[in-house]
Amino acid sequence: MAKMWTGRTDGVTDKIADDFNSSIAFDSRMYKQDILGSMAHASMLGAKNIITKSEADTLIDGLEGILNDIESGKLKIDMTAEDIHMFVEQELTLRLGDVGKKLHTARSRNDQVALDTRMYLRDITDSIVEKIKLLTQEITVKAEAHKSTIMPGYTHLQRAQPITFGHHLMAYAMMLLRDIERFSDLKKRINVCPIGSCALAGTTYSTDRRMEAKTLGFDEIALNSIDGVSDRDFCVEFAAACSMLMMHLSRLSEEIILWTSWEFKFVELSDAFTTGSSIMPQKKNSDMAELVRGKTGRVYGDLIALLTMLKGLPLAYNKDMQEDKENVFDAADTVIMCLDVFAPMIKGMTVLEKNMLTAAQKGFINATDLADYLVKKGLPFRSAYKICGQIVGDCIANGKVLETLELENYKKYSELFDADLYHEISLITCVNKRVSEGGTSPESVQAQIDYVKGKIKNA
Ligand code: ARG
Repeated sequence: MAKMWTGRTDGVTDKIADDFNSSIAFDSRMYKQDILGSMAHASMLGAKNIITKSEADTLIDGLEGILNDIESGKLKIDMTAEDIHMFVEQELTLRLGDVGKKLHTARSRNDQVALDTRMYLRDITDSIVEKIKLLTQEITVKAEAHKSTIMPGYTHLQRAQPITFGHHLMAYAMMLLRDIERFSDLKKRINVCPIGSCALAGTTYSTDRRMEAKTLGFDEIALNSIDGVSDRDFCVEFAAACSMLMMHLSRLSEEIILWTSWEFKFVELSDAFTTGSSIMPQKKNSDMAELVRGKTGRVYGDLIALLTMLKGLPLAYNKDMQEDKENVFDAADTVIMCLDVFAPMIKGMTVLEKNMLTAAQKGFINATDLADYLVKKGLPFRSAYKICGQIVGDCIANGKVLETLELENYKKYSELFDADLYHEISLITCVNKRVSEGGTSPESVQAQIDYVKGKIKNA
């Protein structure tokens, strides 16, 4: 098809150059945003008498027809077109004749593509937020069911202190809550309307940019036309929020992979979210969690690619910027796929409470509580810490644990030890007594659950 921009050149380009230049393979997904943007533009041109009212109506009807035909499958998007903006305009002109050629008055593809991308990301941000909410809800439900389930808490992947599984899960709920906030916040910066910036310098027509922005549901307009067409910081921010979310999902994935191993056996995933091996009959692999962890790398890649693509670009538009879309689309698609699989995977996860408890019972996980016992009886913490360290060392040498070491042996280290120490170092006491705000006690975990529930309701 002849190029819309035939004029200075004869518009006859090499097929290889056409293929290389074309973005329709990936920007066709913005057809709806492109058409809605054009409808608002036509309407503004009519309202400001830049074209006649009836021309505006004709354009709007024509655009609506194209939208309906694409959605019903009657109109196939021509994959040899240069991009979605050219395709829609060409189709419009094909249908309406000369009046179709008036649509691009007081507009450029530079502000048009910035508009479409912002509208697309705005919509996708809303669905990502909804999906993070769903996942957070699933995590919160599991946490509530296990707010008293004791497990070992780790630092350096060494048993550290007993915690509740609910507490551990709620840590992820808090991270996801911040992800929700991050996406909701960046949406404010996406939702700034660039249309009317035109190629870069604005226009001599008496347009009404605010009218167009309002029609399209934008809160603000870009106040500098060069910035309006040049910046893609909203794409970078979006990819950064996707990366952060993936980092959180990847950490949880890593834990699920560990927990489902024979060595841990803390949880079991449902058959529906695991795979077998083609050779080893005993296998039940956590492939979904592994894939989420693996896909995190590609989302980071999208972020770095965007930052790198932009860093050397002089103002204003450069064709390099066409590369922004594959990255943001890939980041969005990946995040959505991962969230979709994660929520039901968590829902169907069985918690093996006994195994968690057994793991917590070994490893001197209550040594801090033993030290605290002495502190509460008047010993300075550092001295108590030292004594308890020696007791642990002796226990290891003699094949004992804190619970089985006899009182007379305790007394050799300090006269402050009494029979009540066994109650104080029992795992249930260790957990139940950690009532500090944010701590691991069931009441504290319940408070965290209530907080997250409230936040999600109002988010
Ligand atoms: N397909 C192009 C993109 O995605 C549209 C903008 C083209 N503008 C231009 N001046 N060549 O960036």
